[in-house]
Amino acid sequence: MNYLLGVDAGTEIINKAKNKNNFPNVEYMVFDALRGDWRTISKRFHKAIIYSVIHFFDSIEDVEKLLTELLKVMERECIILIGDVRDKDLYTKFMENQRTKKITLRDIKFQISKILNSFYLNHGKIKKVSSIPCSIFSYNEIKNIADKLGLECLRHCQSKKHPFYNTTVDYILTRKE
Ligand SMILES: C[S@@+](CC[C@H](N)C(=O)[O-])C[C@H]1O[C@@H](n2cnc3c(N)ncnc32)[C@H](O)[C@@H]1O
Repeated sequence: MNYLLGVDAGTEIINKAKNKNNFPNVEYMVFDALRGDWRTISKRFHKAIIYSVIHFFDSIEDVEKLLTELLKVMERECIILIGDVRDKDLYTKFMENQRTKKITLRDIKFQISKILNSFYLNHGKIKKVSSIPCSIFSYNEIKNIADKLGLECLRHCQSKKHPFYNTTVDYILTRKE
């Protein structure tokens, strides 16, 4: 690996990364991928990883905007991984199963631990937990953007070892020949 640029809109996470991995060929930048000026990025890249990020976006148009800008800093031969995407089809199936499945002792234990956790969060040291936004995208929505931008789009299911394998997927995008 010659050069790596790590970007995030949050200053705290960028500082954490800087402290953890201070390699000479790695740079970090506080940068909002949707509102930032991409022309300030002068380097060109062969690989990009957007991991566990796009569920923070408000809409599929934001995903299109990100990929349009990102492609301007990518080499012609490149590969883009969009990881940990909450998937509309898998999520709908998962919720359907939750509604129809028989309740087990494990489920009851899980619900009790959730109640205890929420009690602890509300009455213990942690006073406030901000809610995590979570947009859900379908394969067709991602594929449509890929088509518009001249990209091949592969959707990968995650390994069962992954905690959210039954609701999230990864995408690999490459330029069409
Ligand atoms: C769940 S964290 C994932 C962090 C890291 N990618 C990882 O895999 O460990 C989501 C991150 O997306 C960042 N994020 C959300 N919207 C962004 C945007 N428009 N531009 C840059 N970063 C963004 C947030 O600041 C947050 O740090």
